[in-house]
Amino acid sequence: MAEYDSIAADYRKSKFAPWRIAVEAHSLFTLLGDVRGTRVLDLACGDGIYSRRLRERGAARVVGVDLSSGMIDMARSEETARPLGIDYHVSSAQDLDLGETFDIVFAAYLLNYARSLDELAAFARSVTKHLRPGGRLIGINNNPAHPPQHYAATRPFGFVKNLPPGTALVNGTAITYTFFQDDHSFQFDNFYLDSHAHASTLADAGLKAFAWHPLQADLAMLSPQDHALDWEGFVASAPVLCLSAVRV
Ligand SMILES: C[S@@+](CC[C@H](N)C(=O)[O-])C[C@H]1O[C@@H](n2cnc3c(N)ncnc32)[C@H](O)[C@@H]1O
Repeated sequence: MAEYDSIAADYRKSKFAPWRIAVEAHSLFTLLGDVRGTRVLDLACGDGIYSRRLRERGAARVVGVDLSSGMIDMARSEETARPLGIDYHVSSAQDLDLGETFDIVFAAYLLNYARSLDELAAFARSVTKHLRPGGRLIGINNNPAHPPQHYAATRPFGFVKNLPPGTALVNGTAITYTFFQDDHSFQFDNFYLDSHAHASTLADAGLKAFAWHPLQADLAMLSPQDHALDWEGFVASAPVLCLSAVRV
């Protein structure tokens, strides 16, 4: 059973938190730019929230892949209820071979599931295999430069990252994300890999110009009661960062 099978419904609900919309989605779509007419592979697509947004923004073909059958069940239910022509597959992004290439591989929170440089290399090889030359990897990931002493500061936004006391942040360290929602919380782990590991491993796999991109907040998307939160601080010491690279 994949980790997300048991938290699929909670995770889907978390995507409606204000920071997800005004910061996460806004930053990703700003980085993506115009996707009209493009072929997009959404790797670690979850319930397909971004797969659907990409089709709605004019992508010509969207394929979603996720390890969790619970997440893909939700994506397929949405597709049945409101068909957009998106194909979904249950598979690991490692060792994936769909037999086609795309203009964009979109990977929201995939790379931070690599527990080692070898696993990151396997993700990177799958990205390269599914991109045409010049095609782009666009994603969002745990920010390796986010200092653990700042982790608690995101609590007003509905989640915190956490390290067990005394744990050093070295490659492979598990970072627990706890989301607070309604009257309960749920958790999952991501894994720390440093910034250099990302740049060198992706370059070795044929992905050049790897870059991290700061988050941007679109305060106009927020309801009035959410304006009081420290959005400037959230973006300045960002828990997650956007990323991009280009297939050689
Ligand atoms: C934080 S969720 C993000 C889902 C979606 N991209 C979003 O932004 O809502 C991370 C997703 O990565 C998936 N995942 C974890 N390891 C994976 C792997 N090796 N291959 C494919 N998907 C994976 C999980 O099942 C989960 O759905």
